[in-house]
Amino acid sequence: MSIADALNDDLAAEFPAAFRALSRLGRRIYFPQGIPAQSADARGTRYNATIGQVTDGHGSPTPLPAIAEAFAGLDAHKSHLYSPPAGHGDLRRAWADRQRALSGGSTAPTTLPFVCIGLTQVLSFAAELFVDEDTPVLVPAPRWGNYDQVFVTRRGGRLVEYDLFDGRELTLEPLRQTLAATEGPAMVVLNFPHNPSGMTPDAATAAELVDLVLAHPGPLVVLVDDAYAGMAWDDQLPGRSLFWDLAERHDPDKHVILRADGVTKELLFFPGRVGFLTIACDPASKSAAAFESKLAGLARSGNGSPPGPSQAAVLHALTHPDLDQQLTEARAVLQARFDRLSAALAAAQSDRLRPYPFNSGVFAMVGLPDDLDSEEVRKRLIAEQSLGLVRLGGLNALRIAWCSVAEEDIDGLVGALVEGLG
Ligand SMILES: Cc1ncc(COP(=O)(O)O)c(C=O)c1O
Repeated sequence: MSIADALNDDLAAEFPAAFRALSRLGRRIYFPQGIPAQSADARGTRYNATIGQVTDGHGSPTPLPAIAEAFAGLDAHKSHLYSPPAGHGDLRRAWADRQRALSGGSTAPTTLPFVCIGLTQVLSFAAELFVDEDTPVLVPAPRWGNYDQVFVTRRGGRLVEYDLFDGRELTLEPLRQTLAATEGPAMVVLNFPHNPSGMTPDAATAAELVDLVLAHPGPLVVLVDDAYAGMAWDDQLPGRSLFWDLAERHDPDKHVILRADGVTKELLFFPGRVGFLTIACDPASKSAAAFESKLAGLARSGNGSPPGPSQAAVLHALTHPDLDQQLTEARAVLQARFDRLSAALAAAQSDRLRPYPFNSGVFAMVGLPDDLDSEEVRKRLIAEQSLGLVRLGGLNALRIAWCSVAEEDIDGLVGALVEGLG
């Protein structure tokens, strides 16, 4: 029996929803007994002549000083030798421990987070495993535009939008109706704090959301895009990701719960490109081993392995005694910008400026009156007001990335916007 068939049999026996939801590529892919695997087998041997990387002959790196000096302070083994395709084990464990603590000690079994190149690759790997030509992929409207590329352009999935707003109110009704009308295998993407609106549902709405997703008969892959995890600016909001509630209650005959998170926004390390893919599944199970093999197969054939220097830097941060204090300080800056923008939008005297509610993440959204076209307004704001905002697909609205505007400039930004809308 082939390795892929054996992995698929394990999933079919233990995790029927995952087996039934696998794409054709998801079924085919596995991590071969190739060079990285044989090199791992040979770890600790006296003469390890398995892998094509130059060392001092005893397993330590010998980088060119011109490169090494740029990474001074990082663990040289991590920054100058190949990483395993799944990422470094100690980094994966450190991230898992941190996320588990942030979950408030959830007991949901989860796989060791698989290191990817940013959250974008987490989403891409999820799509490769579970999206085929015509697989329904339920996505919020509005949404981060790159979902369309990841799920449709690359994988041929069939995007099904669910509106997130009814007027200016967050609503679950369209998601409920869309899920009810969707037969599995299908995928649904949940993204809170939400890009572009900056909204997170309150605790009661979040509980309702979890119930309605888990009511689907499956096979349903639930991809929780937690790019902005932990960025809540209202202390009444739930303190943890929906992933944990879904993971604690899901039924492996019906649902596959995936989490995409990473250091991009959570540790403000935007170009580090360290993302993690975590699956709600017993880490000691054959299913977890099957996922690890399939993901390693995707990594090996896609990007080889994730970059070492970024992983070394993230591990350094995760073991740094001041990390949480530094994050608290960075968040205080963001909270001040958020508060200032909330106040400035509330005070703006213009019935042409129609803000949506926002309580989290790093964005806010303003709706435009019907007589204005968001693309024209966007260009006019640049030309006449020196103000750069982003137009959204499918909604006559603009997105404000307020996270990158100094607190003292926020009143000016809103003033320029009001003036630009006429
Ligand atoms: C909702 C959402 N998901 C995923 C990503 C991708 O993150 P990364 O930059 O780590 O690839 C972003 C980035 O802006 C995002 O807004």
